[in-house]
Amino acid sequence: MTTRDAEARAILKGNDRGGYTVPTAGLYPYQWNWDSVFAAIGFAEHDMDRAWTEIETLMSGQWPNGMVPHILFHKVDPSYFPGPDIWRGVGPIPSSGISQPPIAATFTRWLLEMDGTFKHRARALVPGLIDWHRWFMTWRNEGGAIVVTHPWETGRDNCPDWDGPFAAIEPEGIEDYYRRDTTHVVEEERPRRWDYDRYLYLVKLGAECGWDEAHLREITPFRVADPTMTFTLLRSTRDLRVLADRMDLPTDDLDDWITELEGGSERLWNAELGTYDCLDIRSGQHTGVVSNASFLAWYAGVGGDRMQGHFDRITRATRFYVPSTDPAHPSYEPKRYWRGPVWAMMNMLIATGLREAGHDERAEALRVNTRDMIAENGFAEYFDPRDGAAAGGRNFTWTAAIWLAWASDSARRA
Ligand code: GLC
Repeated sequence: MTTRDAEARAILKGNDRGGYTVPTAGLYPYQWNWDSVFAAIGFAEHDMDRAWTEIETLMSGQWPNGMVPHILFHKVDPSYFPGPDIWRGVGPIPSSGISQPPIAATFTRWLLEMDGTFKHRARALVPGLIDWHRWFMTWRNEGGAIVVTHPWETGRDNCPDWDGPFAAIEPEGIEDYYRRDTTHVVEEERPRRWDYDRYLYLVKLGAECGWDEAHLREITPFRVADPTMTFTLLRSTRDLRVLADRMDLPTDDLDDWITELEGGSERLWNAELGTYDCLDIRSGQHTGVVSNASFLAWYAGVGGDRMQGHFDRITRATRFYVPSTDPAHPSYEPKRYWRGPVWAMMNMLIATGLREAGHDERAEALRVNTRDMIAENGFAEYFDPRDGAAAGGRNFTWTAAIWLAWASDSARRA
């Protein structure tokens, strides 16, 4: 075990709140959906039982309609805004009212393949996972492309993809609010006030209708099909199908969803720019951004090598990659959250796809690049692509987990 390995384990331990981990103390003091799934594969390197518990706690917050929330507010903590009183979730545990990239099925399969003795725990999770995927296919499906009703749902909070759709929104009637995020992290590395007004406006719309998806679909000004959601759902549904089949559960719906999502992925293809990007359903416009989510096409098993040209160009442009926004895009900002910085967990997903598509050298180069970025700069939330400088929160769960499960030379699955 190297020093960094020991540090990574200590971060997971320090962020463990008993059955779930927080992304980092202070800035994000609750359980986040996809953060927890990454935490699970970090735990899996040394404590398989704890890994399963992380996903089980996440699924315990599932709503009656199948949705699994993006935040579970297990214990109220005033250091975070907006909290449960603003969101007014309607599930069994106080929660937000939106979901997050559905990667849980993929990593449930990953855990099971690492150690088959936990099959009974996987079995108990699969029906809930199927219900969650059904929720996406029912409420967030626009011709097989998966839409979000809030940018936070994609996990890429302030990427330039939202600039166009947001410009069409007038955030009326939001009350005065006090942001807590900028008390933890410098403003230059966080979203702007302009974005926050719109984030809160969309939360208000949802909360006021009790998160009634049928109603929300009619009234929301924000309905954008997104590659993170479409590609992670497609990938996860493929993995869920494997799990269901192994457990002798019916797979017909899952097969239909896979076909539908494969077709829907094509709606995200922006032929003019030669990339997958977002499609604003309200305006019918593509958003015109090559982002790190565009490179999840391989992970979803679609598009062949369509993204290779952009990938090779962008990975040559900066010392550390994959930047969250194309450095050639006018809205690229190398330190501001999803407008430029590198995110280690996105790199792992991209590399997984590259390897499966037969690009072993690119996949390994991406792992080594990520390894060096973390080894030199620590377990930050995200990193400046130019020099790897740490940015955002520190002692970050998913960066530690990605180190343990993939980036470190001692990772078992590397
Ligand atoms: C931010 C990120 C999101 C993440 C959350 C907790 O909102 O954009 O992807 O899940 O923080 O780390």
